Amino acid sequence: MIQHARQVLSDNDRGTYTVPTHGLYPFQWNWDSALSALGFAHFNEDRAWTEIETLLAHQWDDGMVPHIIFHQPDDGYFPGPEVWGTGRDVPTTGITQPPVAGFAVCRMYDRARDKALADKHARAMLPKIHAWHQWFYRCRDPQATGLVAVLHPWETGRDNSVDWDAAFERVPTDGVGTFTRRDTSHANPAHRPTDEQYKRYIWLVQKFRSLSWDNTKLHDASPFQIVDPGFNAILIRSCHDVATLAARLDMPEIAAEARAMADKGVAAMEQLWSEKWGQYLCLDRTTGMQVDSPSIGGILAVFAPIPKERAVAISQRIAKLAEVCEYLVPSHDPTAPEFDGLRYWRGPVWLIVNYMIADGLEQAGETRMVGRITSDCVRLIETSGFAEYHDPITAEPCGGAHFTWTAAMVIEILNTYELAA
Ligand code: DGY
Repeated sequence: MIQHARQVLSDNDRGTYTVPTHGLYPFQWNWDSALSALGFAHFNEDRAWTEIETLLAHQWDDGMVPHIIFHQPDDGYFPGPEVWGTGRDVPTTGITQPPVAGFAVCRMYDRARDKALADKHARAMLPKIHAWHQWFYRCRDPQATGLVAVLHPWETGRDNSVDWDAAFERVPTDGVGTFTRRDTSHANPAHRPTDEQYKRYIWLVQKFRSLSWDNTKLHDASPFQIVDPGFNAILIRSCHDVATLAARLDMPEIAAEARAMADKGVAAMEQLWSEKWGQYLCLDRTTGMQVDSPSIGGILAVFAPIPKERAVAISQRIAKLAEVCEYLVPSHDPTAPEFDGLRYWRGPVWLIVNYMIADGLEQAGETRMVGRITSDCVRLIETSGFAEYHDPITAEPCGGAHFTWTAAMVIEILNTYELAA
């Protein structure tokens, strides 16, 4: 299986970055790259560091690391650079994605066989990653609450989650104009977001473009401001890990600032806890209300160093989900009316999220559940191959095939965990 996974990585390798999969996603995606580097690191550390180096080379002056870097023209993807209009020499989008690069760099450093190489790269990368984290708290948390908002569903990576259905209703569709989607010519439309959602995605892009992508304005101007526990957990975990590594590398200023951001974030996460569900929920910042939607974002929160009793409760919550599906962890509760086992983030299992949940549960000592989740990952791949995502009940492979981060996670999981029998 590892040989097969390596083949997927090598087929999607464009030299200094990987594409998530040929056709559907022909550029470099931010969190795909960070997680894919973990897979490369098991057999080619130099190539793994290069993946993240390339990503960070396209950081904006204000600290943001963009969600897509359009290295080469490719008209098989919509919306391309001309829709974003960010004016960069190498075009990028104008929004960001889950900041998992900090975690990935620290993990690669800890495991490095070539310590000198790791030291060189980590020293160069930590200040950039730290600047990105500071950008988040400056530009996406202007009231200094300790939690950042995402302004576009594409920033979360969980594009069409049920979590944003209500908030997304408030994003207009008028004036968007006509456009042709390209994703539905590469993947089954039943696995993808709807046309209605695409209009709203594009409305937000046009709105932010009209503000010249000025991040001092975007937060307050956006009708969509969601505080996602999963996204915040990734940011908090990365700040926490950067703090630890910076202290080891004798970078005390970064260590102290990153530690303070992580501690404040962990404390603020308490506002998102739901006793009713036994997991965290999103907060809609425009209404000030929790979003009553039991999705995987509130389970992924265990990736952050949250209190032990919260992690144990999340493990119990996952055990409940195991009663209603065959493969953990579904991206939405299968008993909820909105659940759709095939449609992107409204039900399917994603290996990258499973990996981060397993890692968080491992830190909390929930080893039985870790074994179950990681074994389910391997069973899914054995049954249905290296798909982008899988139906949690039937294992049907969904979205793009031959998928880079799925393959990277298989390499990482098989090299890291004892699998349950
Ligand atoms: C897409 O195009 O589907 C991506 O998820 C946007 O990042």
